Amino acid sequence: MFEEKISQLSLSTPPSFIRAILKTTESKDVISFAGGLPNPISFPKEQLQESTNRIIENYGSKVFQYSQTAGLVELRKYIAERLQNTQGIQVTYDDIIITTGSQQALDLIGKVLIDPDDTIILEEPGYLGAIQAFSQYRPHMCAIRLEDDGMDMNELENKLKESNAKFIYTVPNFQNPSGLTYSPEKRKMLFSLARKYNCILVEDDPYGDLRFEGTPYGYISKADPSGSILLGTFSKTVTPGMRLGFMVIKDDTLRIRINTAKEAADLHSNIFSQYILWDYLTHNDLEQHITKIRALYQRQCSTMLSSMETYFPEEMKFTRPEGGMFIWATLPENMHAIELFEKAKEKNVVFVPGNPFYIDARNANTMRLNFTNSDDEIIVEGIKRLGELIK
Ligand SMILES: Cc1ncc(COP(=O)(O)O)c(C=O)c1O
Repeated sequence: MFEEKISQLSLSTPPSFIRAILKTTESKDVISFAGGLPNPISFPKEQLQESTNRIIENYGSKVFQYSQTAGLVELRKYIAERLQNTQGIQVTYDDIIITTGSQQALDLIGKVLIDPDDTIILEEPGYLGAIQAFSQYRPHMCAIRLEDDGMDMNELENKLKESNAKFIYTVPNFQNPSGLTYSPEKRKMLFSLARKYNCILVEDDPYGDLRFEGTPYGYISKADPSGSILLGTFSKTVTPGMRLGFMVIKDDTLRIRINTAKEAADLHSNIFSQYILWDYLTHNDLEQHITKIRALYQRQCSTMLSSMETYFPEEMKFTRPEGGMFIWATLPENMHAIELFEKAKEKNVVFVPGNPFYIDARNANTMRLNFTNSDDEIIVEGIKRLGELIK
């Protein structure tokens, strides 16, 4: 009835393919490699319950009251200190804004930086939540092919030369959807190209802490974040349900604009959750907790990889992530992931076909498989069913 009233802005926002998929796969019988869900056994339920009781006792009405837009100072101080201790990043709590998940940060970046037809640069395949968030503001989205060790730097430099792009959006560690990580060489190149062309580097790093093999790299701009926006989240290390993430922005003008946009969006992120999270972080050992999650995901990833070796046809390629939550697989040339998805659904196993991770809706022969939210036996069974179908 209200069809003709819908704004152009809303019309340019595609619905999330994954959410649509997840709806069809909520049944208990379905083996789902589709969502990007953390394993629920990693949620520190008892500790969060203790923190909830403690903050109400200690702080009373404050935890239920309106609060400031940038977020709880104590939580921002904790984040600044951890970034300093784990990666040597020079930040203070003043540089940090708490967001309603890092997803909100993506929306705020779009709102504050994009005018219609501005060029922005993304990875391809890229995080579809970012494609969705940015597309609301109708930019010209320029996709740079992701190679095994990061974006194709020649293609990137060509685009930067010709486009006056506002920002480059990257997920440098265990990228969603590919599971790939930028090499040290490409990190240096990306950083210097962004600087050379005066382009903001937006680094989204929800998975960096989930490295179960090799040496951690952290953020690309860790030595000098002044020209970058760094995004982080507690969704993968504590719980996604609290919806708490953060932005690090050293540039005062940009940070003030983002803060104002956030004020207009939600006044502030849930302060009750912020208090609980802060109390949890200061009464428990986060690093020890993350170590347990890493061990769990390493086992699940290795089970999925070895099942893929056993059951998938030899000509299939797949990434071998050293962390994170996803494996990216490439089907034989002539196969369409969407068609496989429909057939797999009949066999009660689902994944995300590659299509929504590309900016143009092509017939992708790629697929994203999540390994963190299924038990080992389920992983083996699901991959076996998929392998039989593909063959
Ligand atoms: C690359 C990337 N960025 C941002 C998000 C959003 O995370 P959240 O809003 O839960 O922090 C996700 C979630 O899966 C993601 O993969």
